[in-house]
Amino acid sequence: MKKKVIIDTDPGPDDGVAILTALGSPLIEVLGVCAVAGNVPLHHTIRNVCKILELAERQDVRAFAGADAPLARPLFTAEYVHGKTGFEGYDLPEPTMPVQSQHAADYIIEEVMSHPPRTVTICALGPLTNIAIALERDERIAERIEQIAWMGGALSEGGNVTPAAEFNCYVDPEAAALVLRSGIPVVMMPLDVTHKAHVTVERIRRFRTMGNKVGPVFAELLTYAKQFDWQKYGADRAPMHDPTTIVWLLRPELFSGREVNVEVESVSPLTTGMTIIDWWGVTDRQKNAYVVHDVDAEGFYDVIFESFRRLP
Ligand code: BDR
Ligand code: CA
Repeated sequence: MKKKVIIDTDPGPDDGVAILTALGSPLIEVLGVCAVAGNVPLHHTIRNVCKILELAERQDVRAFAGADAPLARPLFTAEYVHGKTGFEGYDLPEPTMPVQSQHAADYIIEEVMSHPPRTVTICALGPLTNIAIALERDERIAERIEQIAWMGGALSEGGNVTPAAEFNCYVDPEAAALVLRSGIPVVMMPLDVTHKAHVTVERIRRFRTMGNKVGPVFAELLTYAKQFDWQKYGADRAPMHDPTTIVWLLRPELFSGREVNVEVESVSPLTTGMTIIDWWGVTDRQKNAYVVHDVDAEGFYDVIFESFRRLP
């Protein structure tokens, strides 16, 4: 049976690769795609969601717009990495498919509650604002969601937006804390994992020479975004973040990690958005997440390419 998945996202090219990896897999049914403000403001992220669905010729998958700002602070965006629209580097056509009128948080509640308990997974590829709002509006979903696979946080890799914080957690730490306290099984893909799945020139070449429509588009989008990362982390050492959540659903044996306690800092000016991960079990705080630490990068990219090759 196919895994039923809601994707909550703020595209960005990494998000795009994740969505397409899910759409190309025969083992995943994408129930809906929700946009949240993050990499760029909401009016761009929802448009980018529709651009990806149209590129994949999957206008049948419904797109929902959610929060345009974090729960309790102003929005911080990353145009300095992804350009003004979030999708600089390739001019995808303006989408024509409709955006649903329902708020993404209400859609999440309705979709989760209309399925049997623990049969709907959420892949969260951005700040957790939409999911936190859904939890605030109807806490019953905590007992109904199968798991949330979230790209966010960092253990010993350091931060990518401040010395301490990873972007998705930094943008909305209050939402991350709320989700981690909710009792929903959370699988967390921190920078420690995504910084092991390098976007190399050779891997971009594999996207470009795939022989379909989507591969070369993502070769261009990744090349634009990764120039910034290659300067920051070193040539050929750009991370691939968001698809880790989707590949986790398809091939969990490619990853390893630990069940631990994770708390989120939201007060200190120096460490806001930092995930405090009790890797060594030095507290008796309750374990609330499976934090992944390692990935078989070759196997990970094989899954992505396999999915992409099934797309137009
Ligand atoms: C996360 O931030 C975004 O820029 C990426 O899409 C990813 O979700 C990495 O810190
Ligand atoms: Ca993202």
